[in-house]
Amino acid sequence: MAESNTDGRPETATDRAAHGAAPGAAPDGAALREAGLRLDVDGAVATVTLNRPERRNAMTFATWRGLAAIGRSLPADVRVVVLRGEGPSFSAGIDLGMFSGEGDGFTDGSDAEGSDRFIAELQEGYTWLRRPEIVTVAAVHGHAIGAGFQLALACDIRVAADDAEFCMKEPALGLVPDLTGTKPLVEIAGIGRALELCLTARTVLADEAARIGLAEIVVPRDGLDGAVRDLVTALLAVNPGAAVATKRLLWQAPGNTLEEQSAAERREQIGRLREMFGR
Ligand code: ACO
Repeated sequence: MAESNTDGRPETATDRAAHGAAPGAAPDGAALREAGLRLDVDGAVATVTLNRPERRNAMTFATWRGLAAIGRSLPADVRVVVLRGEGPSFSAGIDLGMFSGEGDGFTDGSDAEGSDRFIAELQEGYTWLRRPEIVTVAAVHGHAIGAGFQLALACDIRVAADDAEFCMKEPALGLVPDLTGTKPLVEIAGIGRALELCLTARTVLADEAARIGLAEIVVPRDGLDGAVRDLVTALLAVNPGAAVATKRLLWQAPGNTLEEQSAAERREQIGRLREMFGR
């Protein structure tokens, strides 16, 4: 996750550049089409749509690079990013065609350093979703399998339709989940549940997802867009600087001792007070 300023201001483009997450060129229409993505920016809200419904939004390397490019080029005034899927599924995970030679340059792991760089570049498509200056919302319906499940886990908040089905399929295919999903899965569900889900590759339905914390909100399928709209409205109603500082604070809580977290709260609050009272 890129760092950001510690004084509670919403992070600006200059801040992002200073922290190595410089805004790049926004992907053009052709690049987005190749990535199977659509991007709609409306003021403070960006909506990223996985847009290969005929393949159940299966994702390729181009998809993950496209997501990373969207993250790098996000306008500085965007405060909420919604991830959603077109068609019957959120995402059926990696495009299985890539295993049968359709992939553009799969790594076979023989060059460990090169493979490490290769996977790290793909993971960038997910890690930006944790930046404190934005709140990210996954709107999940239908299947969220493998890389699709991990994309939902990379978001701050998951809103699920009652037809949502989550499945961490990678181990069943001989792989590990490597698109940043293992940490949030363990933090949300606990190590025992995470092991059980991954090592059986079983499907979690929406009710259970709500029960074990994989979805914060579950609504009927036809209410998903409305529920996401209401959530976005509520998120935007909160003071922007306080939202950035609070997200930063909450995400570091699991890794901090009580003393460290208390100190972090004091630092962030001092930043807020300075901002509010102009000192
Ligand atoms: N990669 C490539 N094509 C896919 C994928 C995928 N992951 N998932 C679905 N498709 C294609 C199907 O081949 C089919 O194509 P066709 O119309 O040319 O035959 C089309 O999308 C529709 O899929 P159906 O299977 O007909 O749709 P259905 O609703 O019955 O099932 C489901 C959906 C459950 C998602 C099923 O397609 C499936 O199991 N897909 C594979 C899921 C998977 O194993 N993903 C990899 C996880 S591991 C990882 O992500 C690293």
